[in-house]
Amino acid sequence: MSESATPAAIAASIELARLPDAGPFAPPLPVPSLLEARVIDNARVGSDYWRLTLDAPRMAEAAQPGQFAMLTLAVAGELAPVLPRPMALYGWDAARGTVDVVYRVVGDGTRRMTGFRGGDRMVAVGPLGRGFIIPPAARHMLLLGRGIGTCSLTALAQLAARRGIVVDAVVSARSPDALVGTDTYRRAGAREVIEVVDTNGSSDVERVAAAVLGRCGDRFDEVYTCGSVRLLGLGATLAAASGASVQVSLEAHMACGLGFCHGCSTGHPGLTREKPLVCADGPVFRHTPTPSAPGAA
Ligand SMILES: Cc1cc2nc3c(=O)[nH]c(=O)nc-3n(C[C@H](O)[C@H](O)[C@H](O)COP(=O)(O)OP(=O)(O)OC[C@H]3O[C@@H](n4cnc5c(N)ncnc54)[C@H](O)[C@@H]3O)c2cc1C
Ligand code: FES
Repeated sequence: MSESATPAAIAASIELARLPDAGPFAPPLPVPSLLEARVIDNARVGSDYWRLTLDAPRMAEAAQPGQFAMLTLAVAGELAPVLPRPMALYGWDAARGTVDVVYRVVGDGTRRMTGFRGGDRMVAVGPLGRGFIIPPAARHMLLLGRGIGTCSLTALAQLAARRGIVVDAVVSARSPDALVGTDTYRRAGAREVIEVVDTNGSSDVERVAAAVLGRCGDRFDEVYTCGSVRLLGLGATLAAASGASVQVSLEAHMACGLGFCHGCSTGHPGLTREKPLVCADGPVFRHTPTPSAPGAA
């Protein structure tokens, strides 16, 4: 399972539907803030990831699962990187006013991010985007996440648990040390947390399907996924068998995160009609299967 859920890969095979702005299924979208957040902690967790905790009460009060923040990683006196970087809100504590982000170092911005220390200030904008929606009648949810994509799903598990919804989760990664989110799911009270990795073949989609059917059952009220086209395909198949729908969180290169630059469109150059923007229309979309879509009959 090595494909990542790039907008191009997803958009090539499925239709994406924007989730509603508000209504019985969706809380109203919060108004984002520009903050100079104090760094409380920024430490390595495991071999692959770092966890950043920010003192950002306005973001913590407003955040919804699946939303993200744009973090400016240049500090006073530096010109680069000019553009902020999008990061999913891994978790937050509204009472303490803190927001957590878990990240992997992939380039200059995230490398600089590791240099922030407790007491430093970081410019952040958030919470941004349309997050996941929990249908009022949902009693059993399946979460399928791969690699750092799981970080978009953890807060959803916490909210679902508070509502008494049964949560089963698959945590997929290249190798055991790249697994992320398991402890958070368990602390949130997830019923099953199925870890699968490439190194022993357990992340093969057929084996993941068998593990889910064996340990979680075959009826789900809603399926949520992030980080893998193949997990999205599996989610679509399992959801179709239950009459459920799938919500997918996408990643894209983002310049503004606010809907202005149109750099994060899910379409490809040459399309005459613009496809949805990942930052403003997503990052969470409803997956609408087409005859050629992954998981479609
Ligand atoms: C809504 C959203 C939520 C995200 N949440 C998280 C998160 O919780 N934790 C986390 O570690 N990362 C997350 N990302 C990805 C993160 O934004 C990128 O890894 C980061 O911007 C890379 O910055 P950089 O300067 O270190 O790397 P760059 O030097 O900009 O790029 C290094 C490499 O990473 C690739 N890359 C850069 N940005 C992205 C991206 N957005 N998607 C896919 N590949 C990218 C580049 O193509 C290049 O190969 C999220 C992205 C989005 C859009
Ligand atoms: S990142 Fe600018 S419009 Fe989406």
